[in-house]
Amino acid sequence: MAVERLNQHYGGSHTLRNVSFGVGDKGCTAILGRNGAGKTTLLRCLMGVLPITSGAIVWNGAPLTALPSHRRVRAGFGYVPQGREIFAGLTVGQNLEIAASASGTADAEAAVAEAVALFPVIGQMWRRRGGDLSGGQQQQLSIARALVTRPSLLILDEPTEGVQPSIVSRIEEVISELSGRLSILLVEQYFEFARSIADHYVVLARGEVAVSGGTADMDSDAVKRFLAI
Ligand SMILES: Nc1ncnc2c1ncn2[C@@H]1O[C@H](COP(=O)(O)OP(=O)(O)OP(=O)(O)O)[C@@H](O)[C@H]1O
Ligand SMILES: [Mg+2]
Repeated sequence: MAVERLNQHYGGSHTLRNVSFGVGDKGCTAILGRNGAGKTTLLRCLMGVLPITSGAIVWNGAPLTALPSHRRVRAGFGYVPQGREIFAGLTVGQNLEIAASASGTADAEAAVAEAVALFPVIGQMWRRRGGDLSGGQQQQLSIARALVTRPSLLILDEPTEGVQPSIVSRIEEVISELSGRLSILLVEQYFEFARSIADHYVVLARGEVAVSGGTADMDSDAVKRFLAI
């Protein structure tokens, strides 16, 4: 995927400024930046949940900037929003089945079984209401819900936020494993988590790309200066 000179405004405020970067077919790119930098806004623009003012999102060689959200999901974008946004009144199973059928996944049953194999707690909680799950369980459900659509680009917005350490480790393992076969775009507040899991990074500061590159030769101190309050 290539993001080309993306601009976004909330009314009169210019939130994303000529944001450009690319991600490969595999691997993990971390989007870093302090609170309010524009990370969630960027992801919502990529998913088509928010309109952009100008620029392009190119996927498999063609712009999908004009496509509505559900068409982007069918084209291969999976989304784990900040705050999880699971369907609280539906059961765990229904959360997954709705996502699989809405996205038109051909082998929905197998896709659901694979997601449950990654996060066994989902199988254990199958008939519980989504709203009755703990924060960490909801986060696993939110990731599983994105996976049942069989994405080739998985976009995650702070999947470790408010999640207990043991579940953070499981989420980290799953993201590492997935990044071997699909492309991951990860917004993350925790610098060490991002550095350990991502091969590329993009730092946003006030809606602009401040610095980007490979994590292997990242200047950690320089990057941390952009993240400090
Ligand atoms: N719906 C909205 N209407 C107007 N301004 C908004 C709206 N949502 C966010 N903003 C503003 O846009 C800027 C970017 O917000 P955004 O949520 O994208 O930041 P973020 O990097 O995801 O922050 P955080 O780390 O806190 O999640 C902020 O200044 C925020 O106040
Ligand atoms: Mg955010």
